[in-house]
Amino acid sequence: MTNTIFDFIGDNSGEWEVTSMSTLKGNPIEMVSHLTKVPQSDLIQSETGIWSFKGIISNLRYTEKEEKDKLTAIQEDLGRKSSTLGAFIPIRKSETWWSLAQDERRKIMESKSEHTQTGMKYLPAIARKLFHSRDIGEAFDFLTWFEYAPTDAEAFDELLHTLRKTEEWSYVNREINIRLKKV
Ligand code: HEM
Repeated sequence: MTNTIFDFIGDNSGEWEVTSMSTLKGNPIEMVSHLTKVPQSDLIQSETGIWSFKGIISNLRYTEKEEKDKLTAIQEDLGRKSSTLGAFIPIRKSETWWSLAQDERRKIMESKSEHTQTGMKYLPAIARKLFHSRDIGEAFDFLTWFEYAPTDAEAFDELLHTLRKTEEWSYVNREINIRLKKV
């Protein structure tokens, strides 16, 4: 069975070393030196770390067929050997965002903010995975995960800079920027 539920455990040891951690919006989370992403099936219940967040790989909400086909054609999976750097960015969006209708949210994300169009330019250099947390009552709505080679670190920063200036990001009310290096 494929794993769809993952735990992200912040602790004093783990698979990824935390190279920096900063709170961009909302309440901070406790500083940790390491992070491990574990499929729930492999989770040892007693190992909860200093903190842990749970996320689920879910169906697409906004992506249209043409975009989906393009993404599938160019994106690469997590776990590449060359991807020695990573980022874990938990995000929460405001109640105003969630009170909008699906088509209004899609319009803000794509017509106005060009999220996918912008992101697509950074593929396949940046490998990514989106985990949903809102529906399971977690502190964040999304846990976003990225992996890339050191030569693409600057491009990744540029992508974040572009996305954070968009109308979509004006609905983000909690965001923690955690950068990682594979141990
Ligand atoms: C690397 C290039 C990227 C591509 C190609 C990309 C593409 C996408 C796509 C297609 C979706 C919509 C999924 C759906 O249909 O439900 C999405 C959602 C999302 N992406 Fe990105 N993305 C990229 C980078 C980023 C970055 C750097 C962030 C910042 C942390 C980010 C944060 C999110 C979030 C939070 C969502 C969920 C938004 C919501 O449902 O309200 N993405 N992304």
